[in-house]
Amino acid sequence: MTMILRTLLLATLLALPFASAARAGDDWVPPVTDPLVKKECGTCHMAFQPAFLPARSWNKMMDTLADHFGEDASLPADKAAAIRAYLTQNAGDVVGQGRARKYMRHVAGGDAPQRITENPDFIRKHQLPERVWKDPKVVTKSNCPACHVGADRGFYEDD
Ligand code: HEC
Ligand code: HEC
Repeated sequence: MTMILRTLLLATLLALPFASAARAGDDWVPPVTDPLVKKECGTCHMAFQPAFLPARSWNKMMDTLADHFGEDASLPADKAAAIRAYLTQNAGDVVGQGRARKYMRHVAGGDAPQRITENPDFIRKHQLPERVWKDPKVVTKSNCPACHVGADRGFYEDD
């Protein structure tokens, strides 16, 4: 059974480069370059690209790190301030660059969504069979690198 699932997942992903080779530039999302953000926000999961959420989302997240999706991710004030500055300066509504630009179209004015994986553009592109999500290598939708080998470099199609 597991074998079949892996094969299915692989087949889906191998199809990606062929579909997209011509417009790779548009599918790139500027990756995290700040070492502090990479370290502190990349231990439990990959350091997500700030362009996937607007600045007010990052502000809200940095205000609530003590209860971060059920985890205590709190940081010393100086580190938190530096990370907040990086995330908000590179947020989707600020840089408006690359593939993540499409995500911003779905975020209403006052909203501060906390999940990339709940953006309608994410949902639309991830209509994958339930079995794919249950694959032990995937486990959760936020596990981008499980399916996108170039995720931490900002590549979501040219895998
Ligand atoms: C102690 C572990 C831990 C640390 C450190 C941590 N996170 Fe998380 N984060 C989580 C967990 C757990 C989730 C929920 C994952 C899931 O449901 O798949 C999450 C989810 C997220 C999500 C939403 C993912 C989605 O579903 O779209 C974002 C965005 C995020 N974290 C950003 C950050 C940022 C920014 C930092 C650094 C300030 C950080 N995280 C540090 C544990 C952590
Ligand atoms: C279970 C595997 C899987 C996981 C986990 C996953 N993706 Fe995907 N993703 C895909 C597949 C397959 C596609 C292609 C869908 C299509 O083109 O119709 C895709 C497409 C995308 C696209 C659209 C590319 C384009 O230009 O059309 C983006 C952006 C993206 N994923 C980002 C993410 C991010 C960010 C995460 C983690 C928060 C993530 N994905 C997690 C499988 C996955």
